[in-house]
Amino acid sequence: MDNKILSLNGIDVYYGEVQALFDISLDVYEGEIVSIIGSNGAGKTTTMRSIMGLRHPKKGTIVFNGEEIQKLPTHKVVDRGIVYVPEGRLVFPDLSVEVNLEMGAYSKSYSKAEMQQMMEEQYDLFPRLKERKNQLAGSLSGGEQQMLAIARGLMSDPKLIMFDEPSLGLAPVIVDDVFKVIVRINKEKNIPILLVEQNAYMALSISNRTYVLENGVITTSGKSSDLIESDEIRKAYLGG
Ligand SMILES: Nc1ncnc2c1ncn2[C@@H]1O[C@H](COP(=O)(O)OP(=O)(O)OP(=O)(O)O)[C@@H](O)[C@H]1O
Ligand SMILES: [Mg+2]
Repeated sequence: MDNKILSLNGIDVYYGEVQALFDISLDVYEGEIVSIIGSNGAGKTTTMRSIMGLRHPKKGTIVFNGEEIQKLPTHKVVDRGIVYVPEGRLVFPDLSVEVNLEMGAYSKSYSKAEMQQMMEEQYDLFPRLKERKNQLAGSLSGGEQQMLAIARGLMSDPKLIMFDEPSLGLAPVIVDDVFKVIVRINKEKNIPILLVEQNAYMALSISNRTYVLENGVITTSGKSSDLIESDEIRKAYLGG
């Protein structure tokens, strides 16, 4: 449990002259679900973009499985085994569910049999996708597209998955399904997860630890079960 998978150590990130992240430090250990909560514009997506090498920090280090990755280009970060499921469930709408899944394995050189096995694993986790494997991704419901985006991420057999607002714009009953699947991925496949969510209640409920980000600064962090009881957190993020 004490094995550190990811650590951000005092990173500063800018967009041009404007600083978006200030001295952010954060850890993810083996087996954990770690969440980042915070209001619009707090810097949650920017944190994930920095980990993915889409925005390099000006200061600080990002260490993944013992290796500094803060200067690596995105494709090398992907090679190291980090998968990013961005906001807005970006699937390829004009391609079938099956081909979307295959695209998730582009960084891998799977044999045909391995590809088939990875595909079956995703269909076990997401039976609805199996029923719809020949359907165009763009014709799936919002919830199904989110499931496809997650399944596609799993195709590369990741060592860490980062989800950015997986519940955004989904109906409450679908939101439950999405979070259940995230917990299953963590428990059954033993993949550590970094989760960004505006649905603070959900994030705190399913994660082991949580960081609160405000205006580019981490203001609070701790065990999610403690934070969910805290008056300050309840007032600011859980509607009192
Ligand atoms: N491409 C960009 N160019 C300039 N500024 C940006 C860019 N992307 C984000 N920012 C700014 O950086 C800050 C952090 O944005 P970020 O998208 O990380 O916030 P967020 O916490 O993900 O918000 P949301 O909950 O709305 O998704 C904001 O002030 C935003 O305006
Ligand atoms: Mg965001």
